Amino acid sequence: MADLDDIKDGKEFGIDQPARNQPFFLKGANALDWGMQNRLSRIFNPVSGRTVMLAFDHGYFQGPTTGIERLDLAIPPLIPHADVLMCTRGALRACIPATATKPVVLRASAGQSILTELSNELVAVDIEDAIRLNAAAITAQIYVGAEYEHKSIANVVKLIDTGNRYGIPTLAVTGVGADMVRDARYFGLATRIAAEIGAHYVKSYYIDEGFDRVVAGCPVPIVIAGGKKLPEGEALEMAFKAVDQGAAGVDMGRNIFQSDSPVAMIQAVGAVVHRNERPEQAHQMYLDLKSELDAGGD
Ligand code: 5RP
Repeated sequence: MADLDDIKDGKEFGIDQPARNQPFFLKGANALDWGMQNRLSRIFNPVSGRTVMLAFDHGYFQGPTTGIERLDLAIPPLIPHADVLMCTRGALRACIPATATKPVVLRASAGQSILTELSNELVAVDIEDAIRLNAAAITAQIYVGAEYEHKSIANVVKLIDTGNRYGIPTLAVTGVGADMVRDARYFGLATRIAAEIGAHYVKSYYIDEGFDRVVAGCPVPIVIAGGKKLPEGEALEMAFKAVDQGAAGVDMGRNIFQSDSPVAMIQAVGAVVHRNERPEQAHQMYLDLKSELDAGGD
């Protein structure tokens, strides 16, 4: 039982040591509150400063996408190897075991389909439901230059303001309209707008020319989407170039779940993102893991 002696005898005050006041490890996040920084530390590995987010939210506008027709079969084997799960609340509740303790970045927009104008989204999750689902962050697209640019930016502003009330960060995804030129000028514009409206981190695409300038001009971390399925070696090279030029990781979907060996691919992506594994070695790692798995290994 505690008694007065415990107080009188206390002498480990470290008088000669100044109070620790370490800067937070993530770009642009130093002034955030504890809860916000704590959630971001679950999303980004504090040692590498990076993340491998597994994106499988595609169905919210394009239905049963190749590779994730059955989320309940496709996703659980990948969960141990992902840092973060990015999905809709419907997918989460229906297909992801609640025993999965990986942080969830919750897709909080909807309202369109591949049959209509993609930029015409709305906020589609109430913050209370995001909290109920223990979301580590919430996310929606800004469609800069598209027909519903204004509405999509307003959606993300709303998520940011609501999330700020509860210490939940917002990831702004730069959604690219079909007729937009995917260059450094466009992504520099879109990612900077996302950061300036208060997004805590931003998803962009990797581009061969000027990606380092896009990263430098964005005051918060950028993660890259994988985009259309590429041969595994090329996807690993893209991930390597992106982190080498300052990206804080990937938010990758099709290049993982459409791979010939998704479990091998996500581990190879992780080696690139967290250990700076070179693309050739990471590709060899993918091939070795794939052979082991094909031969019946775990
Ligand atoms: C859709 C998204 C997707 O999650 C994103 O595009 C990631 O998937 P992929 O790597 O397949 O491009 O935000 O709008």
